[in-house]
Amino acid sequence: MTESRTQALIASADAHSAHNYHPLPVVVATAEGAWMTDVEGRRYLDMLAGYSALNFGHGNRRLIDAAKAQLERVTLTSRAFHHDRFAEFCTRLAALCGKDMVLPMNTGAEAVETAVKTARKWGYRVKGVPDGQAKIVVAADNFHGRTTTIVSFSTDPEARADFGPYTPGFEIVPYGDLDALREAVTDETVAVLIEPIQGEAGVLVPPADYLAGVRELTRERNVLFIADEIQSGLGRTGKTFACEHEDVVPDMYVLGKALGGGVVPVSAVVASREVLGVYRPGEHGSTFGGNPLACAVALEVIAMLETGEYQEKATELGEHLHRELGLLVGGGAVREVRGRGLWAGVDIDPSYGTGREISEKLMERGVLVKDTHGSTIRIAPPLVISKEDLDWGLDQLRAVLGTEA
Ligand SMILES: Cc1ncc(COP(=O)(O)O)c(C=O)c1O
Repeated sequence: MTESRTQALIASADAHSAHNYHPLPVVVATAEGAWMTDVEGRRYLDMLAGYSALNFGHGNRRLIDAAKAQLERVTLTSRAFHHDRFAEFCTRLAALCGKDMVLPMNTGAEAVETAVKTARKWGYRVKGVPDGQAKIVVAADNFHGRTTTIVSFSTDPEARADFGPYTPGFEIVPYGDLDALREAVTDETVAVLIEPIQGEAGVLVPPADYLAGVRELTRERNVLFIADEIQSGLGRTGKTFACEHEDVVPDMYVLGKALGGGVVPVSAVVASREVLGVYRPGEHGSTFGGNPLACAVALEVIAMLETGEYQEKATELGEHLHRELGLLVGGGAVREVRGRGLWAGVDIDPSYGTGREISEKLMERGVLVKDTHGSTIRIAPPLVISKEDLDWGLDQLRAVLGTEA
């Protein structure tokens, strides 16, 4: 049998790229809106959106035009010089977050590292924690990235094993447990770092009032509340930030993914002057962070979010998605559905197949999702998806699970 182009490209990738991912066997060639086309010309509905990096869809015209215009002007200066998009980017992003200052980076993990460094420095310089004693409290089952410091406070053995020695200074408490958090906070605690909804853990929404409780506790104890909104933020849950669902404003937002509009990697830490004002030249940085191309694309993302249109769409379609998925619970195949807005974690009964098997079956029917933790699939389509396409995707899920009406 002759090898298909798909098989040949996958074999070649397997031979020459590190096996740090286990992608579905599809090779994408082009994409537009909520749809991707593979090298054989087959079309797929994207129900993952690059883990929320593609909230505004593939090839979004406004974002592509902004990028193209900037490509013709200047793409990179490094921070050795000023460039003419930087001030506007920082001002507008700070305003979107209701904060004073922005520290731009590139990837999510870098932004989390930046938040960790900022909290420690704030702890020593502002709070007065003795040198070297700063402690940051994090949640079990977190996912904040892949650097050595971040995996040091992961509870996922796959993410951690063989990567020690680990960075000290972190304490792990169960997610959603305010009493455990209260116990863990000491005079040396400089920050609590959590995801307002845990994405990689399976789209885990904390108990009602948890975020508000974290806010109250951190304020009482003079501890920074760092919200990692890299996946939950920028429209996904129907609000600009998932913290808004509990009317909570953290001290530091950590942003990434959709901030780059699916075009370029853009991340940032956004906070008050008291917090981000701790830095002096030479203490932190990135050659690419806040580059002109990144700023131009992110400015367009900010403008799109300022309209509220995408948040509204996520709310409306999200209600529909959760109503439809809710109907599957208890019917045998689906054990539980969690999430907010256009974001869902669907726990499949293992007798119907693993998350991976369900994802592969969906792929065969032209729908792309991704499994997590064995038996969960994550659904997070671009916010620009039409209701008809979403319904078609849900029909495919029902067909795969054998739960058609
Ligand atoms: C909540 C959260 N934080 C951080 C990261 C890491 O981002 P990146 O992969 O861009 O380093 C992710 C990625 O999935 C994430 O979901």
